Amino acid sequence: MKIGVIMGGMSTEREVSLRTGEEMIRRLDRDRYEAVPIVIDQGADLIRQVQQAGIDLALLALHGQYGEDGTVQGALETLGIPYTGSGILASSLCMNKQLSKMLLKAAGVNTPAGLCWQGMDDYDPQAVERMGYPVIVKPNTGGSSIGIQLVHNETELLAAVQESCRLDQTILIEAYIQGTEITCPIMDGELLPIIGIRSAHSEWFDYTAKYEVGGAEEKVIELPPATEQRVREAALASYRLLQCKVYARVDMILSEGIPYVLEVNTLPGMTAGSLLPKSAAAAGMTFTQVLDRIIDSSLR
Ligand code: DAL
Ligand code: MG
Repeated sequence: MKIGVIMGGMSTEREVSLRTGEEMIRRLDRDRYEAVPIVIDQGADLIRQVQQAGIDLALLALHGQYGEDGTVQGALETLGIPYTGSGILASSLCMNKQLSKMLLKAAGVNTPAGLCWQGMDDYDPQAVERMGYPVIVKPNTGGSSIGIQLVHNETELLAAVQESCRLDQTILIEAYIQGTEITCPIMDGELLPIIGIRSAHSEWFDYTAKYEVGGAEEKVIELPPATEQRVREAALASYRLLQCKVYARVDMILSEGIPYVLEVNTLPGMTAGSLLPKSAAAAGMTFTQVLDRIIDSSLR
C-alpha cells in the first residue's frame, strides 16, 4: 500500500509537523507500506502532489491551520483519497478553542472560564479584572503553545493581546488554573495511559518545554481512583462530543482532583519525543504499531 505522509504546511507549527512526518516515515512498517513524503509549502501543492503521487492513503502529519483544521481533510475528500484521523467537522471544531469550549461547557465538561475577543476592538481589561489575574492569553486557533502568554496584570495584558492579534483574529483569555498539566491520548475511543507533565523552566508547558530535550518531565501518572475516573470521563466525553475519530489527545489541567479540559488535538504531535507515542509505549504499543492501528482504523 502506498502511503503519502503529508507534512510541513503553512501554519506556525510547520517545524513540528516536519518532525512528526520524519518520525512517521522512519517508523512505518516497510513490509506493509511504501512511504511517500509529501512536503506542503502552499495549498495548491497539496492537490498537485497528492494526485501525482498516486497514493492509497494520506497519513496526516500536519499540525495547526491548513491541515489539522479540516481544510486538507476537505480537499482529500473531494479528491476521493482516504486520510488518517478525524473528519472535517471534528478537525475544524477542535482547532477552534472557543467553539469547542462552548460545546464542552454546554455538555457539562469542565473547562477554564474564558473570554473571547475579535481583535483589539473587543479589548476590555475590566472584564479580565472581573475574571481575576493571572490569565492565559492564547491565539484561538493556535497550537504547540505558540503565542501563548501568562499575564499577571493589565500592562502585560495589553502587550500579550497585541502580540496574539498578530497570529490570530480571535483571542482567547482564559483563567489560569494552578495545577498539574496532564494529557489523555485516545485511540479508537479508548483512553491510553494518562501522562503528567512537569515543565523544567517555565510556569506552563510552553514550546521549549514541549520540544527541547529536557524541557519537561513527562511520565505516566497514577491518580487516585476517583480522580482518574473524572479525568477519564472528561477525556472520553470531549472526544465523543466533538466527534473525533481514530485518535486524538485531550489536554487538561488537574487542580485539586478536578480536571479542566484545555483542548482536544485531532492530529497530536508524533515526533520522537511526543506524548501520544510515549503513552502508547507504556501500554505496550510501539510507534510502528500505533501507526498500523491509525492506518487500519482510518480505512475502516
Ligand atoms: N499541536 C501539537 C503538535 C500537539 O498537540 O501535539
Ligand atoms: Mg494543541
